[in-house]
Amino acid sequence: MKLMFPEGFLWGTSTSAGQIETAFDHDFKGLKTRDGHVLNRTIDHEKHRDEDAKIIFSLGNAYRCSIDWSKIQREPFGEFRKDVLKEYRTFLEKLKRKNVKILFVMHHFTNPNWFAKETPWASKESTPLFEDYAKKIVDNFGDLVDYWNTFNEPGIYASMGYFLGFYPPHKKKFFTALKVADNMSKAHKETYKIIKEEYPESLVGISNSTMFFNPETILSYPLEKFFDYLFMTYVPDKFKQVDYTGLSYYGKVSFRPWPVVETEEPGELDRLGRKHDKMWEYYPEGLKKILLRLSRKYKKPLIITENGCCTNNDKMRIKSIKDHLRYAHEALDEGVDLKGYFHWSTFDNFEWHLGPTYRFGLVHVDFKTMERKLKKSAYFYRKIYQTNSVLD
Ligand code: BGC
Repeated sequence: MKLMFPEGFLWGTSTSAGQIETAFDHDFKGLKTRDGHVLNRTIDHEKHRDEDAKIIFSLGNAYRCSIDWSKIQREPFGEFRKDVLKEYRTFLEKLKRKNVKILFVMHHFTNPNWFAKETPWASKESTPLFEDYAKKIVDNFGDLVDYWNTFNEPGIYASMGYFLGFYPPHKKKFFTALKVADNMSKAHKETYKIIKEEYPESLVGISNSTMFFNPETILSYPLEKFFDYLFMTYVPDKFKQVDYTGLSYYGKVSFRPWPVVETEEPGELDRLGRKHDKMWEYYPEGLKKILLRLSRKYKKPLIITENGCCTNNDKMRIKSIKDHLRYAHEALDEGVDLKGYFHWSTFDNFEWHLGPTYRFGLVHVDFKTMERKLKKSAYFYRKIYQTNSVLD
């Protein structure tokens, strides 16, 4: 059966500058990864802009991306570098000429080192600096942007950087992580106003990280409730001032009583007989449940800002796209106002502290030659976008 999506549905792919550009002077530069690499050179996107633009517009009518803050603004309250501005604008203009809608992410994890050292997100000085950056982004890129994400997954950023210690600045202080989320939410509210003053028609949102949390033993209930509250209520409620709710969804986390995640306990999901990718338990039906939950709660249109599969098995990626879209379609049938879907990711890229061998791309990248090659999943996804439908 052919599942048709609503007219004008956004079909896009998603990237972040920190994962596809060579690190300029940001705080993730030099991060040592679990797979034995160091985050610095990633996939040379800055040298392949024309080729990458062609790939991007062949894969959708929309693109979600960010820029390297450390490259464009070199000091607190500094003016944007003209050469860098031109480089980014030329790239985005190319996409716009092909009628690609831009979803611009202002903050996707990385910060300039001058910011990270002196005024990190845990300090209250962080917000005026971000707001200055946001204002300059709106002044310089606003004419090209259709949708905004002020922040990408503030809950994940705060917990990975300030509670679990996997991301810079590698802190392990729960209450500092809450402070970080709080400062980001203040910056979000101001940024919302800044954008709306200049571009009242553009749509402003956030990207919340969502997972389907599932308690599997009596003992696991308290922990599961705590995680669910933190990621699905506490943090998202701080970013309620939006025109649409954005969400990323990757799978299920079962609690037995501790969360079972492939990256932390490799082999455990196999032992339990659960399907999984290199990171999480496979659970596409969770996407529908979460879409229904967020739609009832926030009563706003929804956009899936990220969904993908971490695997070298492209057949699994194709199945994952198909399964998730089937459930997204069921949510539409049940009245959810879903406006778009962005696949994570356009290219194989650099998966933060885990490293480049954690591949999510529709496009294969040879990390030695940097050659790009469309995988079968890219052709599969292109067909979905071109026909605005998926075959069930
Ligand atoms: C992030 C991406 C990341 C992806 C897969 C999301 O949390 O926004 O940067 O690569 O998940 O882990």
